[in-house]
This record gives sequence, structure tokens and C-alpha cells, in this order.
Amino acid sequence: MVTRPRYCGGPSVELGYWLGGQGTPFQPLETWPQLQGRRVIGTYRGRSAAALACRLLGVGEGQEVLFPSYNCGTELDAVLHSGARVVAYRVSRRCEIDLEDLMARKSSRTRAVYVIHYFGWEQPMAELRRWCDDSGLLLLEDCALALFSSGPSNSVGRAGDASIFSLSKTLGSWHGGLLSMSGSSVVREPNLVSPGIQTLWTEFRTSLRPLVYTGLERLRIYGPLISVRGRLRKCRDIGAQDAEFPPMPKSYYFNPDADADRSLHTRIRALAGAASPDAVLNRRRANYARLAKTIEGHPGVEALYPELPRGVCPLHFPIRVSNRDALVREFEIRGVPAIAWWKGFHLGAIDWANFAEACQLKRDILCLPVHQGLDGEHVEHICSAISDVLKTATC
Ligand SMILES: Cc1ncc(COP(=O)(O)O)c(C=O)c1O
Repeated sequence: MVTRPRYCGGPSVELGYWLGGQGTPFQPLETWPQLQGRRVIGTYRGRSAAALACRLLGVGEGQEVLFPSYNCGTELDAVLHSGARVVAYRVSRRCEIDLEDLMARKSSRTRAVYVIHYFGWEQPMAELRRWCDDSGLLLLEDCALALFSSGPSNSVGRAGDASIFSLSKTLGSWHGGLLSMSGSSVVREPNLVSPGIQTLWTEFRTSLRPLVYTGLERLRIYGPLISVRGRLRKCRDIGAQDAEFPPMPKSYYFNPDADADRSLHTRIRALAGAASPDAVLNRRRANYARLAKTIEGHPGVEALYPELPRGVCPLHFPIRVSNRDALVREFEIRGVPAIAWWKGFHLGAIDWANFAEACQLKRDILCLPVHQGLDGEHVEHICSAISDVLKTATC
């Protein structure tokens, strides 16, 4: 038995969907608990939503946005596209934002605070909201990793003047983002352009992947192929020295021609509408709990979040290990697509040398899949790969 790529939250749209739907009734996205009572705008991608939030709220030239030092870089580049300057603030090794550091960085040019709910875990939104209101600042919430999460205080995606979502990360489409705005935000007409046929073509090609992978799996050659790829990458890595701050991939940068002012494709809206927030949440939580139990007692490996609080919909199972990139290869060899999470750095806007903890997170965090598409057999395969890898590798 081998794992399929849908494990990592990647493409999971079946071909049948394109050939007349999956028979699941589509719900308007506005009925999702996280979006209720908010103005919802469908966007091409999550990064498009971040750029649009800045445009609609008037964030731009001559202004500053307080920004978390631990970031993907994509969201950062989308905010830079507005013309505003970003001022990074400290994020701890446990992915908690440092409120004191954040507040100390406010200047007369500060216009907004940007906050990321890492992997679905809730940030302290009540304190932030209060401080932003008292200081006359906008609050921009990034929920790209937190679709269907509410958190113990039920604030994820509800406290910000604008909240940004990326549908692809949880639901497995190729594109898709949402911007939700609070009732009190001044909303001009977004005037978005439809993404067109190219988007549909990419989605269609993406939807063929599970079919191909399943075929390879039936022929019993998918596992060996993944494993060979892992071994080849491992050979390539031997002796390779990563730069201190390896750049993030080019595709992470904001491309104004492709990403700005584009709407959500109607087909992807329908696809997202077929998802059940409760079913996704419950499945992901159950998978997370199973993986968390498996790493218990293994020295040298630590769950980034040992607890799974009420209402959290985990995007992955992030663990902290010291020889992360080597372990990613070991998981690949066993057919499990582990991710070296946010390994690359956005170069240019942040002085990384001042943010040791964020840099360490970029070097240590390895993500394992908890995707809702996994069945029991898949999860057991991942668990035995974890035991195997952690037994043989020195973390
Ligand atoms: C925290 C965060 N915000 C926003 C985005 C942008 O989402 P998208 O890839 O849908 O543009 C990403 C993408 O990786 C992300 O990690």
C-alpha cells in the first residue's frame, strides 16, 4: 500500500466532478460558519484576496503594515504590491505572535496589522482587535491555513476588517481564494475580471492527476516511482549546502497580470460549495490525533502543537525536527509526501537576521498530511512510515 499525493491537501478533485457533478448539493459559501454575517468576495487565489483587501481598505503608498516575521512570502508580496512598506514583528518558536513586540513597532505611518493563523490555530484576536480599535488601525486576518477553523474563542476569520482565505490548501483545487469583510469596513465595488478559460484548463488537468495516480497505484508502480524520486533527490542533496536564507520559489511572488483583480471562477465556487465544513473538520482532527499519538515517546521530534484545541481545523501535522530536509526525503522514499514547510525566504522586505525564531521555524518544521481524503488504511501507512523514519533517523 502506498500513499497518494492527495494526502498533502493537493489535488483531490475527481474527474467525475467535471463530467456532471458529484451528486453533492452545492451550498452558497456564505453559509459557512466562518463567513456568516460578512461580505464575501470570491477571488482568483488567496494572494489576490490579500492584495484586494489592501486596495479596498486604502492601504498603500506612504503607509506601513505590521507583518509577522514567520510567513510564506506569497502573502507578504501581495501586500507589498499595494505600495505599503512592511514592518516585521516577532513570532515565537511556538508560532505565537509577540504582542508586545508588535505594539512597540507601531509608528505614525502604521495603517494596518497583518496576522496569520498558522496551520489553523487561533491567534489572540480579542487583544489585537481591542488594540487596533484603540490605535485606529485596520486588522487584516490571514486564514489561508485556517479554512473551517474557529478556535476556542470562535474568532478565526471573524475579527478582522478583512479576512483572507485560500481554498486550494484545504479543498485541493488549483485556484481559489476568498476575501471576507466585516460589516463596518468601507467596501468599494471590487470590479474584478473573470479568470477565463486558462484557469478552467489548469483545473481540469489537475483533476486528472488522482486518476493517473490511482492507475499507477493499481499497477503497483506508484510506490516505487515515488520512492525512486525520493532516492534521486536524496543523492542530489548529499553535499549540497543550502544558502543561509534560500529564496522562495519564483511562483510564490505576486504576479499582477495573473493574480490582481481577478474573481473566483464559478466552477471552483461550485466545487467549494460541495464541501462540508463539519466533515472536513472532524476528519482532519481525527487524523491529527492519530499522528500525534504516533510520535509520542520518540526522542528528538516534537509536535509544534501538542494540543488540538476545540474548533481548530488542522491544515497539516507540523513537527519540529533538526535534520528536516533529510527526513523529508526519508518520508518520500516511503511514499509519504512530507513538506519542508516555508523553507524559502522572501528576499528584500525583511531583515531576516533580526528574526532568529522565524528563521529557525523555516529550517525545522516538517509537515505531514492530515487531509480529509485519507482513509484509515492511508493514515496507518503514514503512522508506520513515521515510526520507521523516526526509529532509523537521528532527529
Ligand atoms: C499564509 C498564506 N497566506 C496567503 C497565501 C496565498 O494563497 P494562494 O496560494 O491561494 O494565493 C499563502 C500561500 O501559500 C499562505 O501560505
